Amino acid sequence: MATVSEAPHSTKLPPLLADQLHTDPRLAEAKRLILAAVADYSSQLTKVRPANPALTGEYAQLLDEFSKLRGGALYFPYLSSGIGNGPFVELADGSVKLDLITGIGVHGYGHSHPEMVAAGIDAAVCDTVMQGNLQQDRYSVELSRLLTDLACESGAKLEHCFLSTSGAMANENSLKIAFQKHAPADRVICFEHCFAGRTLALAQLTDKAAYRQGLPTVLNVDYIPFYEAADPIGSTQRAVAKLREHLERFPGKHAVLWLELIQGEGGYHVGHHDFFVALAEVAHQHGLCVIADEVQTFCRTTRPYAFQHFGLDQHVDVVTIGKISQVCATLFTDTYKPKPGLVSQTFTGSTWSILAGLAIIRGLVANGNFGPDGLNMRWHGRFAAGLQKLADKYPKHIAGPYGLGGMVAFTPCGGSAEKAKEMCLKLYEAGLMCFLAGGNPTRLRFLLPLGSVEDQHIDLACELIESVVSKMECH
Ligand SMILES: Cc1ncc(COP(=O)(O)O)c(C=O)c1O
Repeated sequence: MATVSEAPHSTKLPPLLADQLHTDPRLAEAKRLILAAVADYSSQLTKVRPANPALTGEYAQLLDEFSKLRGGALYFPYLSSGIGNGPFVELADGSVKLDLITGIGVHGYGHSHPEMVAAGIDAAVCDTVMQGNLQQDRYSVELSRLLTDLACESGAKLEHCFLSTSGAMANENSLKIAFQKHAPADRVICFEHCFAGRTLALAQLTDKAAYRQGLPTVLNVDYIPFYEAADPIGSTQRAVAKLREHLERFPGKHAVLWLELIQGEGGYHVGHHDFFVALAEVAHQHGLCVIADEVQTFCRTTRPYAFQHFGLDQHVDVVTIGKISQVCATLFTDTYKPKPGLVSQTFTGSTWSILAGLAIIRGLVANGNFGPDGLNMRWHGRFAAGLQKLADKYPKHIAGPYGLGGMVAFTPCGGSAEKAKEMCLKLYEAGLMCFLAGGNPTRLRFLLPLGSVEDQHIDLACELIESVVSKMECH
């Protein structure tokens, strides 16, 4: 069991029954057997393979039924069989994919990872499936402590942490605590092409018309341009000027400056320390709350938090995380403590997701994923070098690479949305999972499984890309 049970409540008191259960030799033996059984099957998945023709009919029916039930087709014809091996996953049609999109960053430790299975076994013998507002167990404290300790490591004052079950909910909570503090200010400033989630409020922040089509306007949002690596000073000046313009147009009406530090859905555009500091300083001069949305970037750069990678420890008031952490969270400084009743949820996370989140974050720290020469940057470097080689060989088909750390992308066929989709689906057919990002240009992106990816997987990805690109027309 996770560390709470390793450090029982007090050596003087009789041990808790739960601690006795979690250290019972029968449990240890059962766990050993289960992990060995999973490993026996999982370890057979070491390369991509096509579907088994005997299963394709039944699989098509299952997909068709699911599409009807959910009221729309899935993007990929993907239904997992329930087993994988790191970046490899077996589908219910018998095919095996190399999964380098990981549910858009969720399966960040890889499929059927022994530490995830172990967390599940530990969770299975806990008293409840879900943790929530009225009744939580010790592991919620442990996760909140880990997240705040890491967040405050280099000077940020993010001492508080509220857990939740989705990135959207973590973001909603962040907006609510900022608005409450700055009432009656009710406007938000965001970057153009940002993605913040799909609730009614977040669909207003998210800069994509299709995602708010038919929805009422429930928030006032003003947009500023994002950083341009090709024009650092000019793009910073333009963004600051636009920020000032909005602040002057609606004096005292803005509550939040919303920062997505690396634009994820927007196309893997990476910001810069100077750019963010220039904006945050103006925002703070006008009394705004600076929120960093790290739902996609958390654990993917040289530091656990991307705000730390960009040196913004003194500039962020509220930070949200999600995806790879399995449990989402809103971290905030003492100034932004909400009044009772503002944030609360029936579910703040399942017991398994909390234990898995603890194992993943601790694992990434212990395995050396962070640091300028850590594994996150190493995987990025290898993938970027492979993509660069392909870009040199197939300049019409591939431009880039882009992104940072565990976020990697390239622009296919000059950035046409249609061609990007075509390439994405052809790669899927060939056995490699990636996904679209950005509108103009449209890119293909990867969110690497940072707990299990290895050189050979990245090399295989590049081989699969070449096998598709070499047969595809780009004009
Ligand atoms: C930056 C960012 N914020 C928020 C969200 C929303 O998270 P969720 O889908 O868990 O609600 C996402 C999801 O992709 C995201 O990338």
